[in-house]
Amino acid sequence: MNIGIVGAMDEELELLLKKMELEKTEHKAGMIFNFGKISNKNVVIVRCGIGKVNAAICTQILVDDFNVDCIINVGVAGGIGKNIYPGDIVIADNLVEHDMDTTAFGDKRGQVPRMDTFDFKCNETLVKKAKEACGNFKDHSVFIGRIVSGDQFIADIDKIRWLDKEFGAMACEMEGGSIAHTAYLNKIPFVVIRSISDNANNGASMDYEKFKPIAIKNSTDILENMINLI
Ligand code: ADE
Repeated sequence: MNIGIVGAMDEELELLLKKMELEKTEHKAGMIFNFGKISNKNVVIVRCGIGKVNAAICTQILVDDFNVDCIINVGVAGGIGKNIYPGDIVIADNLVEHDMDTTAFGDKRGQVPRMDTFDFKCNETLVKKAKEACGNFKDHSVFIGRIVSGDQFIADIDKIRWLDKEFGAMACEMEGGSIAHTAYLNKIPFVVIRSISDNANNGASMDYEKFKPIAIKNSTDILENMINLI
């Protein structure tokens, strides 16, 4: 089993990289692919950069060049909905690209035109293992539901209300949907695990800086537990 682990930013992977026995690195498309072991499992850890294009390129490289058997995307996200707070975890069971819009042709917002699916579904076994990995996670809540992605940092209360109403989303971020899209096209199992850093509202950028470290610690702990379960 060769596990691909993708995060958008160095900070999101820093703690995990410290836990890894590094064997080698390879550079491609401006990204550093770190190969090694965590809990004796083969992992490739890579920072893809921010946004959907970077994330899709990275995912395709993991599939084509490094033969990953599954992909886990970790990082932070903006929480949507009243009961989700910074530090909480959202495990995606499906993802949608919220900024895809061909409604002018009669498509639903978020639908990638002419694709045979509206949402990109995470692998059920990986979702279960992610949930199991949260087992002893006491101080924060764990949710399973839809995560939406777009090339926008959401810091607007009206926009989060819209994401809630339009998509029933629990969290928003900027990569998961395109990792899911790429993995779907390549038939590779994937899951997205995000820890909430802000509530995507008007104070989002300030909360983000404040809560990012705890959110990252939480998602790293869960990921480490999960690697043991795979
Ligand atoms: N990642 C963390 N918080 C976010 C937000 N509010 N919008 C988009 N991506 C995020």
